[in-house]
Amino acid sequence: MATGNGKDVVIKKTQDNSLATNKTKDYRLKQPLFLLERKKILAALSKKSHCDIELEIHSQLPSTNSYLLENNNRDYSKPVFCLAELQTAGKGRMGRQWHSPFGQNIYCSFRYDMPCDVSKLSGLSLVMGLAVIEALQKYDATLALSLKWPNDILANGKKLGGILIELQSEAHGNCSVIVGLGLNCNMLDDNAAIEREWHSLHQLMDTPVDRNEILALLIPTLLEYLQQFIELGFASFKAQWKKYDHLLDKKVTVTHRDKKISGMVLGVDQFGQLRLQKSDKTVISCAAGEATLR
Ligand code: BTN
Repeated sequence: MATGNGKDVVIKKTQDNSLATNKTKDYRLKQPLFLLERKKILAALSKKSHCDIELEIHSQLPSTNSYLLENNNRDYSKPVFCLAELQTAGKGRMGRQWHSPFGQNIYCSFRYDMPCDVSKLSGLSLVMGLAVIEALQKYDATLALSLKWPNDILANGKKLGGILIELQSEAHGNCSVIVGLGLNCNMLDDNAAIEREWHSLHQLMDTPVDRNEILALLIPTLLEYLQQFIELGFASFKAQWKKYDHLLDKKVTVTHRDKKISGMVLGVDQFGQLRLQKSDKTVISCAAGEATLR
C-alpha cells in the first residue's frame, strides 16, 4: 500500500489504538498516508515574520485541547501549537466526542496568554472560523465554504470542521485561551461514528491532501486573525462574517441548556452574538447555543 513517500506500509495498531508492537493487528491502508512533519511545517512558517511559535507533534493524545489546558507550568507568552495524529478522547462542543482517527485529519490546538480578561473574548470562535476559511481558500480558491454560527466550518452544508475554545483564568485579570480546531482532511467513508453529515477535503477535492501544507497556511492565518481580534475586536470582522454566514435570513431554533428560541437570523452583532427576529418581530441576541435550521 503506498504511503505519501511511495513506500509500502502496514500499520500495526494495538486494541487500545496505540501504535506499539505487542499484540498487534494489521491494518491495510486504503489511501496514501501523509504523516505530520515538523520540519515541513516549520520551514513554511519561517518565511513569515510574525510566526514565532512553539510546535509539538504527538502521535497520540487524549485531546490536544486537554493537553494544553492541563499543562499550566510553562510559558505561553508565545503561542504553543499542539498537533496529534490521533486523539483518543477528542472533544467537540456541547460535550460531544470529536471523531479523531489516526493520520487522517487535523487535530490542532494552540494556547496563548491573552492581554485581556475573559469578558473581551466574545466572538473569538467566529474569528477563528474566518481564519480557517481564509487559509483553506489560499489552499484551493475554488472551495465553497461557509460558517454556521458559532463555530462550524461547512462545505455544501455539511460539517468540514469545528472550533472548540477553552479558557483558563490567570493572575492580574488576564486569561489564557486554548483554541482547538478539528478539520476533516482525508477521512473518506470509513466510519459510522459521526452522527451529523460531514465532509472532508479529500471528498471535496477528489484527491488526498497533505495536512502539512494546510497547517503551514492555517497557523499564520489563525495568529494574524487573533492579533486583529486583540487589537480591534469582533466588530472589525463583522462584514467578513456576513459573507460566509450560512444562517443569514434563515429560520432557526437556538438551543442553549434547556431553553429553545426560534426566529429568523438577522446576522451577528458587534460581539458576534446571533441576532434573531422572533415571530412577534422583537429582536434578541444569543450569546451561546446550538442553532438548527427549521
Ligand atoms: C465542534 O464540536 O465543532 C468542535 C470540535 C473541535 C475539535 C478539536 S480537534 C482538536 C481539539 N482537541 C479536542 O479535543 N477538540 C478540538
